[in-house]
Amino acid sequence: MSDNLRKPLVAGNWKMNGNLALVAEFNHALASLNVNAEVVVCAPSSLLHGFETGSFSIGAQNVSHLDNGAHTGELSVDLLKEAGCGYAIVGHSERREDQNESSELVALKAKKCVSAGIVPIICVGEPLEVREADSVEAFVSKQLAALVDTLSVDELSKTVIAYEPIWAIGTGKTASPEQAQDVHEFIRSYFSKVDAQLAQGLRILYGGSVKPDNAETLFAQKDVDGGLIGGASLKAEDFISICQAAN
Ligand code: 13P
Repeated sequence: MSDNLRKPLVAGNWKMNGNLALVAEFNHALASLNVNAEVVVCAPSSLLHGFETGSFSIGAQNVSHLDNGAHTGELSVDLLKEAGCGYAIVGHSERREDQNESSELVALKAKKCVSAGIVPIICVGEPLEVREADSVEAFVSKQLAALVDTLSVDELSKTVIAYEPIWAIGTGKTASPEQAQDVHEFIRSYFSKVDAQLAQGLRILYGGSVKPDNAETLFAQKDVDGGLIGGASLKAEDFISICQAAN
């Protein structure tokens, strides 16, 4: 993370976990957090109203690509803004799989976020069989192509990319720092073909079994600008030490 252009970002993804007691615990534990990184907690939307932000921001885990209207069960960017969200995760592999979200839909969601001043944290990453077949770059390129087709350079500059290899999510099998760096460098070079300045400024997070004991070496990689943290973001103490590793 040698490039001063890019402020590190650490985002916790609580997924479908947590409760108001955990929100209160985080409010207390993070109140005096003072790190040289942006810190975001992406909790279930039903809990967002309980956070006392200041030293950290809050984000959603999904968003609709549509405006307010007759879309039962969905949350628009307007609703998320009113709930205080500065960020929204889009295209997490669990949603790409469980809800059949296509890269095109993910791109529309990202575009909608940018239009409302919400920073989309756009997830990409390959399943194990793709890595074993040595096709990671081709797979990730397809996910990125949908973004480049849908968002302008200016819009892309207001996004964050998260590389989350699916085989590393919730498995305890973290990508090695070299594996992470290789894909991050590839992602940055992909965007540099679109616009060199965009690529230089774009923050690319790593996600997949980031823990307090491996965060520092992952974040030390040249093209790793922080992390998207699942399991370890549910324990305030672990999450704080990961935020400190991004300093
Ligand atoms: P884990 O940190 O639990 O592997 O989850 C990563 C993730 O999916 C974050 O979005």
